[in-house]
Amino acid sequence: MSAISLRQVRKSYGALQVIHDVDIEIESGEFLVLVGPSGCGKSTLLRMIAGLEEISGGELLIGGKVVNALPPSDRDIAMVFQDYALYPHMSVKENMAFGLKMRGADDKTIDGRVAKAADILKIQPFLDRRPAQLSGGQRQRVAMGRAIVREPSAFLFDEPLSNLDAALRVEMRLEIAKLHGRMKATTVYVTHDQVEAMTLADRIVVMNGGVVEQVGAPLELYHRPASLFVARFIGSPTMNTLEATLSADGTGGTKVALATGETFAVAGLAAPAGAYVIGVRASDLTPCSAEAAWFSGAVAVAERLGSQTFGYIELAGGTSISVEFPRDMEISVGDHVHLAGTAGALHLFDPKTGRRSN
Ligand SMILES: Nc1ncnc2c1ncn2[C@@H]1O[C@H](COP(=O)(O)OP(=O)(O)OP(=O)(O)O)[C@@H](O)[C@H]1O
Ligand SMILES: [Mg+2]
Repeated sequence: MSAISLRQVRKSYGALQVIHDVDIEIESGEFLVLVGPSGCGKSTLLRMIAGLEEISGGELLIGGKVVNALPPSDRDIAMVFQDYALYPHMSVKENMAFGLKMRGADDKTIDGRVAKAADILKIQPFLDRRPAQLSGGQRQRVAMGRAIVREPSAFLFDEPLSNLDAALRVEMRLEIAKLHGRMKATTVYVTHDQVEAMTLADRIVVMNGGVVEQVGAPLELYHRPASLFVARFIGSPTMNTLEATLSADGTGGTKVALATGETFAVAGLAAPAGAYVIGVRASDLTPCSAEAAWFSGAVAVAERLGSQTFGYIELAGGTSISVEFPRDMEISVGDHVHLAGTAGALHLFDPKTGRRSN
């Protein structure tokens, strides 16, 4: 039985529908990440699971029971918000104990659970401080502690790291991963950061305009994006996508004619002739001879990140593509380079629907 099930879930604000028939089965102990651009409905969906937002249509089940009409306090779910929402006049300990106290737990239970959560989150030294006397990362831990002490059946996180600086965000991301490894609690985590999504998730749900584009394991989404939207959203740099017409090349491969005029042959690719959007990742292109090239052009920008070197290449037809160069390759702006990939690295999409076709 799924821990949480969304069945044909919809949300409208008046005439404006912001969530369209969402179906997701969340397994017990799973870390599910909702990702997508601003305004796609991530927070709305999370708040509906929490019971903070009414459901306009469809069914939400927790532990096999329909909970559409159940108030948040009866759902056995704890939510951690982006702004932490700590009580400023209470100490860390009181903040963490508050929810349990309201539910009528006895002092011994409260003390035990607060001590255990403080231990897990390494916040014992701060228990008597007020939130204003803590750093952003420490406040974030307290907000998680407040959720943990409730021992809920599921945790909901809405962009919990977005207020932290880059270094702390990486640190807390690791903390959350470790915490999930220890507690194995069902978790739904909202972010617009695809790196957070890729690193934390058992499965990712990519949303676009209130619609689920694809649900899958991180590498499944990376290697076989079901749509152009997912292809462009997951992975950095963004996947190169180009309009092209494909036809058989007479030797078992395929001739690709880019809309901008250049042509090249892809050995070993069998695809029905027609119009496509082709996609290839920067990391799947390698320097090659002029004869073997899919793409040729001058390096417009070279980004050296230490462990990786990215180049942005201006093609003759006026488009630009990104490539990851071998890390020790000498490369300068203005160099003319030839690049190719393999048939397996080419993603094909239907230009009308944007859906994957290979
Ligand atoms: N109370 C409301 N009334 C009308 N429209 C709303 C309301 N709350 C949210 N919306 C709309 O619903 C859509 C989804 O909003 P939501 O907050 O879920 O997006 P999000 O994916 O969490 O975005 P972000 O990444 O910016 O937090 C948006 O278009 C938003 O304008
Ligand atoms: Mg949001």
